Amino acid sequence: MEFTYYMPVRVIFGKGVVTKSAAEFKRLGSRALVVTGRNSADVNGSMADTAKALEECGISYKRYGEIKPNPDVENVRDAAARARSIGADFIIGIGGGSPLDAAKAVAILAANDIDDETLFSGTYTSRPLPVAAIPTTAGTGSEVTPYSILTRRSIRNKKSIGSPLIFPVMALIDPAYTYTLGINSTINTAIDALSHAVESCLSVRSTPAIKPAAYESMRLIAGTFNTLRRHELPSSSERESLMYASMLAGTCIAQAGTTVVHAIGYPLTYYRNVDHGRANGLVMHGFLKFLERRSTGVQELLEIMGMGSTDEFGTAMNDLLGARETLSEDEIKLFTDTVLTSKNVANTLPQPSRQDIEEIIRFSFPG
Ligand SMILES: [Fe+2]
Repeated sequence: MEFTYYMPVRVIFGKGVVTKSAAEFKRLGSRALVVTGRNSADVNGSMADTAKALEECGISYKRYGEIKPNPDVENVRDAAARARSIGADFIIGIGGGSPLDAAKAVAILAANDIDDETLFSGTYTSRPLPVAAIPTTAGTGSEVTPYSILTRRSIRNKKSIGSPLIFPVMALIDPAYTYTLGINSTINTAIDALSHAVESCLSVRSTPAIKPAAYESMRLIAGTFNTLRRHELPSSSERESLMYASMLAGTCIAQAGTTVVHAIGYPLTYYRNVDHGRANGLVMHGFLKFLERRSTGVQELLEIMGMGSTDEFGTAMNDLLGARETLSEDEIKLFTDTVLTSKNVANTLPQPSRQDIEEIIRFSFPG
């Protein structure tokens, strides 16, 4: 056995952890930029809790509340300019994947005056500012990963920054922040987390050390499917399981990365505005069928999820996601070309050919 495992994030999990963590924030500095979306951090109470903790320990802060869904480079540059103007010495990201990923890029750009090419290179002259991550959805896992996925208009796609320098130093995870999520967001984010757990096991970078967390994550998420397939909101204990499962799956992709499932999802989000988790869910059945024809290992994952076959998995996704988007012939060709430029394709074991990718897309979006 031979592997590397690196997980430097201090994780503090439980109800009310943010208001109890004033001393933890104090370790990071005396001036913070709080990076959020437009209003969910107000609705779920996370912003008020953070403000209370910061005020309690005398940290001055400003809020940048303009992070868009699937933020682009311009959006994070705008936030980084705010961080510089207030002399922030750390960044707090609050929200789903978009604000958390944005916070990491802001941390890089606040410390480095660099062009886009260097931003995506993962190598920086100055160390990015420390980031504290407060997730408010149970899906992204971004609070424990070294990735920031941004929309990059120059390549008409989403693109990932990967660097151990952007692991958050601290993740404050309170499942209660997900209580106000509606059913569609709950389903989409749960499927995103499930795809992280599944893909991390099917990556060329997968290691034995991530399997216990990935399997537990899959088991917990699939355990909520009875509720979610009826389109009922999860109970508070199911919410807690989903939040924990999402964090576990995040630790797995932190080691192994994602695969062609995410690579196919990115153009669906860029061109068709399909939600990230939903996009992964629409593609995963076809991906598992592709793998089933070429390798073993899929059956074991299905069993962990309590499913007997890839088609049973597909039925579950259909129940969760409803009617699928349809794609034109031109879109299928464009998306296939775009997917081939994504680096997570090379992460997939076995690596799919152009024809395989086109087949997975056609299977996932029947005309
Ligand atoms: Fe994802």
